[in-house]
Order: sequence, then C-alpha cells, then structure tokens
Amino acid sequence: MSDACSPVRFTVNGRAVEVALPPATRLADALREELGLTGTKIGCNAGDCGACTVRLDGAQVCACLVPLAQVEGRGVATVEGLAREGRLSRLQEAFHAHGAAQCGICTPGMLMAADDLLARDPRPGEQAVLDALGGVLCRCTGYRKIVEAVLDVAGTGPAAQRDADGGVGARIAKVDGIAKLVGAEDYGADDWPDDALVLRALRSPHAAARFEVGDLAPLHARFPGLVRVLSAKDVPGPNAFGIYPVGKDQPVLAEGEVRYRGEAVLALVGDAATIAAIRDEDVPVAWTPLPAIAGVAAGLAPGARRLHAHLADNVLVRGRVRRGDPEAALAGAAAVASGRFSTSFVEHAYIEPEAGWARRVGDRIEVHVTTQTPYMDRDEIAHVMGLKPEQVRVVPTAVGGGFGGKLDLSVQPLVAIAAWHLGRPVRCTYTRPESMASSTKRHPAEIEARFGADGDGRLVAAVFHGDFNTGAYASWGPTVANRVPVHATGPYEVPHVRATSRAVHTNEPPSGAFRGFGVPQAAIAHETMMDELAGQLGIDPLEFRHRNALRRGSVTATGQRLEASAGLQACLEVLRPRWRELRAAAEAANREGGVLRRGVGVACMWYGIGNTSMSNPSEMEVGIARDGAITLFTGALDIGQGSNTIMAQIAAEALGVPASRIRLVTGDTDLTRDAGKTSASRQTFVSGNAVRLAAEDLRAQLARLGNADLSLLPEVARGCVAMGRGRFDPPTTALDAEGQGVPYATYGFAAQLADVEVDVELGTVKVLRIVAAHDVGRAINPVQVEGQVHGGIAQGLGLALMEEYLPGRTENLHDYLIPTIGDVPPIETILVEDAEPLGPFGAKGIGEPALIPTAPAILGAIHHATGVRIRSVPATPDRVRAAILAHGARP
Ligand code: FES
Ligand code: FES
Repeated sequence: MSDACSPVRFTVNGRAVEVALPPATRLADALREELGLTGTKIGCNAGDCGACTVRLDGAQVCACLVPLAQVEGRGVATVEGLAREGRLSRLQEAFHAHGAAQCGICTPGMLMAADDLLARDPRPGEQAVLDALGGVLCRCTGYRKIVEAVLDVAGTGPAAQRDADGGVGARIAKVDGIAKLVGAEDYGADDWPDDALVLRALRSPHAAARFEVGDLAPLHARFPGLVRVLSAKDVPGPNAFGIYPVGKDQPVLAEGEVRYRGEAVLALVGDAATIAAIRDEDVPVAWTPLPAIAGVAAGLAPGARRLHAHLADNVLVRGRVRRGDPEAALAGAAAVASGRFSTSFVEHAYIEPEAGWARRVGDRIEVHVTTQTPYMDRDEIAHVMGLKPEQVRVVPTAVGGGFGGKLDLSVQPLVAIAAWHLGRPVRCTYTRPESMASSTKRHPAEIEARFGADGDGRLVAAVFHGDFNTGAYASWGPTVANRVPVHATGPYEVPHVRATSRAVHTNEPPSGAFRGFGVPQAAIAHETMMDELAGQLGIDPLEFRHRNALRRGSVTATGQRLEASAGLQACLEVLRPRWRELRAAAEAANREGGVLRRGVGVACMWYGIGNTSMSNPSEMEVGIARDGAITLFTGALDIGQGSNTIMAQIAAEALGVPASRIRLVTGDTDLTRDAGKTSASRQTFVSGNAVRLAAEDLRAQLARLGNADLSLLPEVARGCVAMGRGRFDPPTTALDAEGQGVPYATYGFAAQLADVEVDVELGTVKVLRIVAAHDVGRAINPVQVEGQVHGGIAQGLGLALMEEYLPGRTENLHDYLIPTIGDVPPIETILVEDAEPLGPFGAKGIGEPALIPTAPAILGAIHHATGVRIRSVPATPDRVRAAILAHGARP
C-alpha cells in the first residue's frame, strides 16, 4: 500500500523522516507501525485518553487524531526524544523519583503533555498542571504523584523523598521504572514478529441471539488478504474456558448462540490492511435475536429463560456465613438500621486494551500477552487447545493496567488457535469499544442489610443479603459470592450474623474480578449502617466505629480469632484529630448558607489477603551466578503496582544486600515458577514470603559453601551456581456449611475520611480532600504503598460518583467517565504498621484495601452535607439532585 502513496516528510525528535502511507493515516499509527516508535501508546484511537499525546511543533496533540498529511514539513516530538545521550530529562527523573508511573502506559502521554506545559510556563502552579495534563487519563496513580513530579521540576512543589537504594522500608524508585519513562517498555501491542498476521474477532451486536454463519467463500473472494475465518469448530480442545474447574462455561467462539453483547463469534485472520477493510456487515452472519435478561431480578424471575442448561434458576453460586441468632438479637437491639443498596457495572478502563500475539514452535504454542496470571493463562490455553500445559509457553508483556480485568482470557486463545492452525505468528489488539464490550466488569449488586446495636453502641447483629449480577458466564462470580458474606459485617465485632449472597446469570457482560471482589459494594451497605446506627444512638460516627472495630483477639463472623495484626483502631485514632477539625470546618462553612454545602464522612474496611479458604501458593527462586550476580526469578506479575520492586527489596533484605544488586527475570512460564495470580492483594504477602524463603535458602546454601570460589562451581540452573527456592501458601481452612472457618491468614484494615462539597441545586459533588489511614502491616516501600492508596482512592471516587457501564451505550472513554486529573483531590496518606507475624518482614497487602472505604466515605460526606442518603451508586448529579428534592432539603 505504501508504494502508491506520496511520502510525507517531517521530523521526529529532530530526525528527518519520510512516511509513504495514505494521507488519512493516523499519526499515532505512522509513528508506531512505520517508524517503530511504540513509545507513543494507543488507548482509544478516539481522542479520549491522551495516551498518544505527542508534541507537534511544540504543542501537545493526540496523535491518534492527527492525519499524517497534516504533519508535512512539521516537527513531531515523542517520548523517545526526551532523554538525551542516555540521560533522563529532569521531568523523567522527577516521575521516577516521585513514583509517578505505575503501569506506565499513560506515562509517555503525561510526559509529553507536561513537557509542553513546562516549555510554555517553566514555573506553573498546580492549577496550570491540572489544566495542561487534563487530557491524559491515568487509571493507576490517582494523578497526585504526577502533579507532584511536575511541580517538583518547576520548583513550585517539594522534591521527592527518595532513598537511593536499600531493602525493606526504603523509598527507592521502581527497579524496572526507567523503560516506562523512555518509551522502551513493550506492552501487549508494542512488539510482534514481522510476518505476523492480524486477527480481529467478529462480535455479537445482540445481548442474546441465535446465529448462523453463511457461505464464507464470497468473503474470501472479495478479500484475498483474508487468510482464514475461525469458528467454534476450529477450537482444537473443549470450546469452554473459565477460572474454576467446574465453571468452564465460556466458549472461545460462540456455538450458534450468544449470551451477551460483545461475545466473540468468528475470528478473521489476514494481513493488517485486509482485516481493517472488512466491515462486520461484510461477514455473512444471520442473527435471530432473543429476549435478553437484564438485571438480577429478571434473571431470578420465575420462568426466566435459563442461560445455562445446568442451572435451573440462573443462580451460579450461593455464599453463606451464619453465626448465632441474628433475628433474636435484632429483636432485642436498642437501635436497628436497614437499607437497600444498588451498584452498577463498573469497567476496569485500563488504558492498555487487551493485546498479544502467538506463534507455533514445533508442538508448542508460545503466547506473548498482557496478563495478570501467566500460569493460569497457560493452563487455560492448554485446555481449549487440547494440549498439555507444558506445551504452552506464556511470555507476559508489560501490563498497562489490570485491576482484575486481565485475569480472564481475552486474546490468548484466539491468537493461539490461529497461530496453531496457520503455522504463522498472529497478533491481535482489541479496540477500545471491543475491550469494553467484551471484557469482564465489576458485579452490579443489589444488597439488603439490617444491623442492630445495643444501648452502649455495641453492634449485636447483622443480616445481609447481596445479589450480584454475574452476567453471561461464570468468570470470578464464585469468588465474589464467597468473599462477600465473610466481609459483610465490615471490620466490626458482630456476635450474631447471617450473610448470604447469590451470583446470578444475565445476558450482560460477564462480571469478574475487579479490585475488591464485591467487597467495595458490600462496604457501601455496612458503612451506611454504621452511620445510621451512630445517628440513632447519638454517637459520633468515628467513635461508633472505633468502639466496634475488630482488634487483636476479636472473633469474626466466620469464627476466626484474630491473633495478630489488626490495626483498625489505630487507623481511626490517627484520623481522629483530622476528623474533628474537618467536621467542624464543614459545619462552620454550612452555617454561612448558600448552595454549596460541605460534608465530611468516614468509612472503614477490612480485606482478607489472598484467596478465600483456598490454597494459593507462590513459588520463587533466587539464584547467584559465577560472577556473583543475583537474579530473582519471579512469576508474580507486576501490573503497575510495583511488585517487582517490592520483591527485589524483600530479596535484598533477606540476603543482606541492597536492592540494586537484584536482577529480575519475570513472568515467563518457561523461566519462572508459578507465583499465582496478581489479584486478591496477595503478591506482597504470599509471593513476598516465597521470595523471603527463597533468599534465605540461597543464603543458607552460600553459608554452607563457605569461602568456595563461585566462579569454579558448576551451573545448577539458568546460569546460576546456587539457586534458593521458596514456597508459601497462606494457612487457611475451608469454610463449613455455615461459613465457619479461617478464610484468610491475615487482613488489611483501613479508615478514610472524605471531605466533599455538594452543590444542592445542581446535585454535583466535588471531593475536596481524602485522608486515608491504612494498616499495611509493614510498608516494604512507602512510595509504592502511597501510590496504591492514591490509585485505589481514585477508583473508589469513580465508583461513588461517576462510573456506570451500560452495555451498548458507554463502550468508550468518552461516554464512560473515569476520574480525570481534575477530579482527584489532595490525598493525605497515613501508613499504620501493625506488623503481621506471618507476613514478609511484617507486610500484608494494599492493592484492594485502598479502594474499598472511599465510596462509602464520600456517601457519608454527602449525607453530612445535605442530610440525604444516596443508596444507589454512582451518585451522579441527577441522582443526588433527585434525592435532595425528595428529602425536601432544598426546593
Ligand atoms: S489513543 Fe489517542 S486519545 Fe486515546
Ligand atoms: S500509570 Fe497511568 S494508566 Fe497506569
């Protein structure tokens, strides 16, 4: 194609280039596909995410919106041009030092937008930074460290607190951070063999339908570059995958029936231009739409059509925890609060869409992919291909955000099956709408709760039921249904409990894992209960929580005695002065009157670290080479949360060397052992322990070798002359029929304050500040922990105020709103370190705990400001305004 086009001449980072592509080619595509400058990322191709931001003649632009013809004779600057002669720019250095890049997929765009700002205004204030970076979305960081980094360079903000090196507790920069800052990190869509074919899935436009595929010969005749159209019959093994051995219910390619909009039906494979040219309507598929089941009420309705033949009532799974006699206790309670709550589908909105490629190597298949779980992918790919797991090699790319959404298969089986049949590499990158339509979501929940307390303000009983819309396929529905009842009381001592849950199938997107596995939804209910009981009893909401907080020696609803780390009371105590101060300030402001009302809310959370009552081991290796180089072989995927750095610090501490001595080999299933998935906030606690044990094993081996000359020792594995191995599986027990047992070895605890301003005429809510106190056991790296807190709070803010995925209506980042840099307020983070004896150097986990209290704290603040309880999230302006009108607070 390029031969027929006149070349467009321009400069990139000062270098003259010529590109002969059609004039309407997106500049982003020209940079990436033609010039190999994949530092410029594509998150949406629609001008919504800013990941593709470059400078054009100095001014920031979205390269996905600029036609190639418009750059003739002009100068383009990309992230690859920021570092000079191998030295990072001051801006890149500041991002590194402040921990401003987590997954790093947004980082090139952020850097270029900031570079533009600093060129125009060398000493910007915070508002100017917010304005200049406002077009670039970040889903990981909560933006605050990005703002700090830019202000640091400008000299208008503080320098980073950073340790140059160290072990546990050191504020070192990411050990793998530089590649993210210079555009050298390869994500799923950034690298592929030259001869790779391109695959695109044809997906259902209907939520429920039967279909027939017509004669494909005319399609092949019309598009000679179409090499193959794969259908269900091309799946070599069982055409069904799923996380649980008993829940393999999702076809790679649908067989005659689709159960949700976005389900894959066929896979078109060919050269890139051909695949781009084929429109969906060119493919002969005859659809017969069926009535779609939307919402759990429809799924549970008597006579509702079964989504899966083996489930008579569309209930995938039920969860239960029962202890004592809650009804009797409620009957005798001095105060009882009750309520119904509902939450929406929430989209992960990682800025990197699903992407990867595969090639056949003899009788093995090799899959390079963005994933949170290489070993689970390996086993699932092997299953659908009818291969042994050893015949599958998964090589994870860098991951541009996951949050649970990249725990399920996406492109993996498609490219693997295509490459297997064709004997050629095949690559696939989802478009943003495709990613949003086809990927898993946070479960919408319908919750009923009743809690009671005695006259002293002590909780006596909790009754909770949650129905979770698990969509068309099982995915992680069982995990949500089992985790929620355990956490339904909130982090409080409640002697009498009945907590139940159901995961219900509908013709909606499969709901899966999303940062918290249903606990954030449950927290909205239990925290509202706390506020209402405190209100009825005339007790301060923070003090009410403190009085009832789980602590060392407490017994949970599953009958587990908390033997050690349980720092919730400490979290509330450190928040107490800020709570009083902010509440008083809000009440003083409200005495002035006006349409803007201030409010301050508090919310708490607990979260079991690791899988619920299931074995979830991690295995690690640490080796030493003849030259003394130490390598950590880690299968624990760093999806931006910083686990590579955390693991290196733990290994360093256990070996007594600085973290800079530790090299990393990550993820590749041929080179690392199974560390389990990156989810359930488990990697620091579980894999961190495995790393510690591996490093201690290596240290013991070296001690036995005494003064032996390493250079003379034989290799034992992968270039190492000694290899330490560690394995850790958290001690838990199965839950019995009443949900009694030890579901988790340890728990994270936290409390957060939200300070908000509500415009009672418009219904808009602006979060002014979050104060977060988190008991993390031990902060292995406080910078990374703070980053997780910030990012979790931003996602919690989205859950509370703006995020609502509507299939077919919000399948892009224009209509689906996530918090922008202007939405996330200043965050005060206080780390409480109630050391966990089972944890590596006392550490627990932080990934999910960070998000869980934010939404209920914001909802509590809205109530404080207006007197209105919002029980259905997101609390969009229309809902808030309607609630205010119904409450009669304002005309
Ligand atoms: S890829 Fe260009 S704005 Fe999202
Ligand atoms: S670091 Fe910004 S999207 Fe991941």
